[in-house]
Amino acid sequence: MTAARSINADVAEALEEAKANYAKVNPKSRGVHQKAVASLPGGNTRTGIFFDPFPIAWERGEGARLFDADGHDYIDFISEATAGIYGHSHPEIRKTVEKRLALGWNLGGHTALEGELAEILIDRFPSIERVRFVNSGTEANMFNLQIARIATQRPAVMGFNGCYHGGFLTFTAKTNPLNVPFETVVGTYNDVEGTRALIQKNAGRIAAVILEAMMGGGGCISASLEFLKMLREETKKHGIILILDEVMSSRLSPGGLQQLTGVIPDLTSLGKYIGGGFSAGAFGGRADLMDLFDPRKSDHLPHSGTYNNNVFTLSAGITGLGKVYTKEAAKDLNARGDGLRKRLNAVCERAGVGMQYIGIGSMLCVHMQRGEIRRPEDTVNGNAKLRELYFFDLLAQGIHVMPKRGLIALSLPLTDRDFDTLVAGVEEFISARRSLFD
Ligand SMILES: Cc1ncc(COP(=O)(O)O)c(C=O)c1O
Repeated sequence: MTAARSINADVAEALEEAKANYAKVNPKSRGVHQKAVASLPGGNTRTGIFFDPFPIAWERGEGARLFDADGHDYIDFISEATAGIYGHSHPEIRKTVEKRLALGWNLGGHTALEGELAEILIDRFPSIERVRFVNSGTEANMFNLQIARIATQRPAVMGFNGCYHGGFLTFTAKTNPLNVPFETVVGTYNDVEGTRALIQKNAGRIAAVILEAMMGGGGCISASLEFLKMLREETKKHGIILILDEVMSSRLSPGGLQQLTGVIPDLTSLGKYIGGGFSAGAFGGRADLMDLFDPRKSDHLPHSGTYNNNVFTLSAGITGLGKVYTKEAAKDLNARGDGLRKRLNAVCERAGVGMQYIGIGSMLCVHMQRGEIRRPEDTVNGNAKLRELYFFDLLAQGIHVMPKRGLIALSLPLTDRDFDTLVAGVEEFISARRSLFD
């Protein structure tokens, strides 16, 4: 499905042409979007997956393949922004869900499933002594932050510029008007001494420091060990709760980045794939903090949620983590991801263009620039339009990566041959667009 291309004078012109080609070969997707515009704002109910001129309408998925309304198929390198680690319709998970279907699914009470999935998470993630389930990563972070505010009796939350922790909680230069009205202290990612000083100055009002040890949606920028260790040391010293948002990064080792770095937070937020591909979230950590929710105590904190223990998420999660994304599978997928990232970077280096892939294991992100990237501020001069063009050019080759943000999240059914296709696709992009690089 390679689209026709001409030699373009600049990136903007090339992008316009790529979008026009995309529109030409996707009339049914356009129709689906146009119809939805009448009933959904902009025809969309999830901002992060929208792209101009209109998004692809997916019809089905199988393994690591996606099929759209216009009859095209793509290799899926997004894997539902990390949640789809099992690929589409994994046979083991499907079997589990079919079994649950036969047993009924709105039981309105406890089952053995919540305890079983909780045990698996406690075994995997070093910080988690007790855990509770929710339906999204956003909720997990919100509960963790509220535990910290209640336990410390302090109002403020510290996060880092450019970091995303859910629909109500972003720490961006331009404040998100939907943010929960917490007092915030905003630091600079990987700025060890600046952050130390900020914590010391505001210690009396900071309840929690929240961060991802590798910014997932923020471009796969990793926190340095020195930065993480400083945060652990300062938060401990000042009685601040350290929250590690592992909604995405928990897939990067059998026990997440906390296991890989050895920096153990007080509380951890989980989500995405832990429910086997169904709506999922979990928050957990130190027993003394989590036991504030023990309903047997007269002064317990309330934590409700109709679908917190829904049987599809829990049973699919148990099969997923227990039988499919086992500790061994986690090690293997991340080692394969490290290898892929190296191959892609070798292609960029050989071509001598300002383009690089950063990340850890099964999560990687392209940046159209040279030099080390230590924080989102380092990417402001990156070539965003060239990255958008990269998305459309790979799409025309049947390869689906994250629009605009360039995230690649690997799933288990992706084969070495799929990796070869991606590497060849990137080579083709660079060779066709070489004149558009700075
Ligand atoms: C690091 C991080 N935290 C929290 C969230 C929010 O999770 P959810 O979309 O399940 O609410 C996301 C979602 O992408 C995320 O990447």
